[in-house]
Amino acid sequence: MSEDALPIEVHWAHTVPVDELVGALTPGERDRVGTLRTAEARDGIASSLLLARTAVGSWTGVTAGSVELHRRCPRCGSRAHGRPSASWRSVPDDAHWTAVPHLSLARTAGTVVVVTTRTDEVGIDVERRTDHVFDGFDEVVLAADEARGVDDEARLRTWVRKEAVLKAVGRGLDVDPRSLVLGPGGEPPRIARGPAGPWHLQDLDPTDGAIGALAVRAAGPVSVRVTQVHLAGRH
Ligand SMILES: CC(C)(COP(=O)(O)OP(=O)(O)OC[C@H]1O[C@@H](n2cnc3c(N)ncnc32)[C@H](O)[C@@H]1OP(=O)(O)O)[C@@H](O)C(=O)NCCC(=O)NCCS
Repeated sequence: MSEDALPIEVHWAHTVPVDELVGALTPGERDRVGTLRTAEARDGIASSLLLARTAVGSWTGVTAGSVELHRRCPRCGSRAHGRPSASWRSVPDDAHWTAVPHLSLARTAGTVVVVTTRTDEVGIDVERRTDHVFDGFDEVVLAADEARGVDDEARLRTWVRKEAVLKAVGRGLDVDPRSLVLGPGGEPPRIARGPAGPWHLQDLDPTDGAIGALAVRAAGPVSVRVTQVHLAGRH
């Protein structure tokens, strides 16, 4: 690994039932989980938030309980949705002092992923591998001059790549995904037309059942490390 490579840490986990995690959630996280109607949503939110705090804690050398997550919408300023960030909740006096990293997170049925790095233009996405994307995908997602996916797996690949880039620029689907033009989904990822780079765009499938992508605006070399986390209720 190059000495100067930008470190990028990806943590992923299988989703765990919220009942097994509730002791590790903050009061605010428990409140958020309590508003959700389906078990899948409750498990996914709880698992992803705990994974995000675990990932930031791992970067900084503190426990997940020392980390607090925030959100801010670049469009309306709300702190109830939008781009994630992290700060110290409390730090033990003897903790090794490392700046809190920037992060991005995503969840899909059964899998949650988080990326942490030093730069704020970072995005990650993951989707469950399925046989079918939604009807009208090409019209909604692809630019007129963009390569059409040969199959739905290539379409899904294009989708997660686009979402990762659009999260990295902090806008998500507030931006029309057709304004971002990528290479064909069946080929190595590249941005043909979109936000100014250079970008590190990488496919990242945590399991056979999940398709993911990572986007980081980075001028130099990067070093990506992927770690599986086994989520549990005691942190
Ligand atoms: C980003 C987005 C595409 C993700 O949606 P999704 O596929 O359902 O969910 P994912 O699991 O992939 O990702 C969810 C995470 O995306 C992140 N996210 C949300 N908005 C984001 C933004 N503007 N920039 C970067 N990341 C964002 C959050 O961390 C969120 O986690 P949270 O629900 O715990 O807050 C979608 O939330 C979006 O388009 N948001 C912006 C829409 C917007 O700006 N609307 C205007 C509101 S005023």
